[in-house]
Parts: sequence; structure tokens; C-alpha cells
Amino acid sequence: MILSVVGARPNFVKMAPVVREISRRKLPHMLVHTGQHYSPEMSDVFFRDLDLQKPDMNLGAGSGSHASQTAEIMKAFEPVCAQAEPRIVIVAGDVNSTAACAWTAAKMQVPVAHIESGLRSFDRAMPEEINRVITDHLSSLLFATEPSARKNLLREGVDAAKIFDSGNTMIDSLIRGLEKALTRRAWERYGFREKSYALLTLHRPENVDRPSTLLELNRAVCQIASRIPVVFPIHPRTLQRIEVLGAEWSGVTLTEPLGYLDFLSLTAGSAFVMTDSGGLQEETSALAVPCITLRKNTERPVTLTQGTNRLCAVHEKKIIEQAFRILEEPRPVPTAIPLWDGGAAERIVSILEKFLAEGDSFGRA
Ligand code: UD1
Repeated sequence: MILSVVGARPNFVKMAPVVREISRRKLPHMLVHTGQHYSPEMSDVFFRDLDLQKPDMNLGAGSGSHASQTAEIMKAFEPVCAQAEPRIVIVAGDVNSTAACAWTAAKMQVPVAHIESGLRSFDRAMPEEINRVITDHLSSLLFATEPSARKNLLREGVDAAKIFDSGNTMIDSLIRGLEKALTRRAWERYGFREKSYALLTLHRPENVDRPSTLLELNRAVCQIASRIPVVFPIHPRTLQRIEVLGAEWSGVTLTEPLGYLDFLSLTAGSAFVMTDSGGLQEETSALAVPCITLRKNTERPVTLTQGTNRLCAVHEKKIIEQAFRILEEPRPVPTAIPLWDGGAAERIVSILEKFLAEGDSFGRA
């Protein structure tokens, strides 16, 4: 049996195409939700929008410090894994659920497959970077979304026979959902015209947890909003910080977190995006929407070289300059990033099937 793990918002988007493909091939399968994200708008709506089957089990881990959240997930996952006796555990991305379940499975000698393997920001101050490194080094099958990932893994001594250039399952979800998303015209709900508003998301601890940084972002965004309206769906972590900060967001429309299709609609219809999200750098690149990533680094360099992404660390003047420059520039021309073609899940599940069929002889041609 194959056991797939999801836990937090980006996992649902990355795993949905894989779970659907496993079920299309009628392979024995179990879907476990760790419960890292639990609010309906952070979890349930994604299952609906992505046609993702209901989880067979929810571990109910919930929020907490890194150590306690990771520990809760591991404690709850171990007996589930012991009882289900999976032949392989699939994890995706870089959240605490990913590393916790990979670690648990590896210690029980269950092979782990990691979707979105090999990305590196080279910044260990990001909890996600630690999760990526741990998960990759515990995995038997490593599915890479972009060329930098393979290079990073080889440099770290990972056996080349375990690495597969699969493409990007997040883009599988985007390609599948785009038509439906566009018919929603989510921008009209906020009174905007298509391509005449900017979209903002913020949730990284380094941007929202320190009041002085959040205030600097607030000032930059309000300046930008004096030229173009900005819509800001707010992550629960950020909402807590914004309430404490008490700053005005003039010209900015604040909304609750949105479901997958509404958010995709809002992204595709925007003039540009400002974000500190990982996935959104890829989604905007696939959609040819300009993106300012409010970070010093990215683990997704292909979005800089072949996509529409540009980095801008938190600096009031520089953010405003970048945004105003985008407004003067012609719209980017869409370019295809290799293997971001809607076929990643199919490629991944074919390799999983081969792995399960060949057992120990897998990869020893
Ligand atoms: C997590 C991931 C991050 C990912 C993000 C996507 C880790 C280390 N971080 O960050 O990589 O980009 O998800 O959203 O795994 N909360 C709710 N409802 C929920 C979930 C969380 O209100 O359903 C609130 C809680 O107060 C919680 C806080 O948000 O303490 C942060 O949640 P947590 O899962 O710890 O991290 P994220 O910031 O969501």
C-alpha cells in the first residue's frame, strides 16, 4: 500500500494530482492528514477545489512551536504507519508535516518518496530549509521540479539513481484548475478590473513576526496602493501580527484567506504579485504574471532565470521602485519552463509503480 501525507496548505496543491493519479491506476492507497492546518479556509476548501479525496485519517496535530508540532505529528504518525504497513510513504514540499513523517517512516524502514525535492535557499534561518535537507536525506525517491534541485542533491552526495526530474505537481494543479478559476473572475468581488490591481501575500516569520519589518512592508504597500489598488488575503499567522500592530492599510483591501480556485483567479487576473510565498513564485511564472518576492533569496531559481520572478528584500524604497517599474514595463511573454507541463504526477506515479514492482533491484540496471 502507498501512504500519502498532507498537512499544510501548499501540500494539498502539490499532492492532489498525485493522489488522483494513484486512484486512477487503482493502486492500494491511504491518505493521511496531519492536521497541521485545520481551519476550514486553510484546509477543507482545498480538498473541494482540488477534487482531493477526503483523508482516510486526520492526526489532529494542530499548531505549536516547531519542536512540539513536529513531535505531535511524529507521535501520532508512528502507530498509523505501524498499523498500515505501507510499502512507501509519499511526502511533499517543506513544511513540518513533511519532515516529521519522513523521519518517522525512515526510522521504521519504510521508503520515503519526496515530491519537490532538492530545492535550497541556503538559508538555515528558514525552518523550511531545515525540513528540506532532512527530508531529502531520508528519502529513497527524490522528485525534482527544476534543474537546480538535481545539482543541489548531487552536491550533497545523494545517489543520482534516486533523483528524478519529474516536473512540478503544483503546476499540474494550476493547469487543471485554471479554466474554472478564470470563470470566477474573483477580482470583480473587490470592485477591480482585470490586470489593474496588485495582489499581496505575507506569512513568512521573518517578514511578519518582527513589528519593524511588518511596519516597513506596510509603508511600502500603502505607497504602492496610492497608484494601484492592492488586495491582501491574510494568513492567520499574519492576521495575529497585524492586529497587534494596529497600522492603517490605506488603499489595501484586506480579506480572509481564499480557497485554491478563488486565489488562482485573483493571481491570474492581477497586474502583479508581491509575496513571500514559495509556491506563488512558481504559479506566477507559469501564468506570466510579474512577481516581486519579498525575500533575500529563493530556493526556486528557475523562476528568476526563466520565469517572471524578481527578488526584493524588505526595503521600503526598493519595493516601491520595483512595483512602479513593473507598471511601466510591457507584460512578460509567457515562457514554458521544462516539464512544467501538467504531466508531473503521471511521471511520478509511473516511477513509484516501478519502484514497488522491482523492490531491491530498482535502479540497479
Ligand atoms: C506553514 C509552513 C510554511 C508554509 C505555510 C503555508 C512550516 C514550518 N511552515 O507555515 O512553510 O509556507 O504553512 O501556509 O511548516 N493557524 C490557524 N489555522 C490553521 C493553521 C494555522 O489559525 O489552520 C495559525 C495558528 O495560530 C498557528 C499559525 O497560524 O500558530 C502558524 O501556523 P503553522 O502551521 O505553525 O505555520 P504557517 O505559518 O502556517
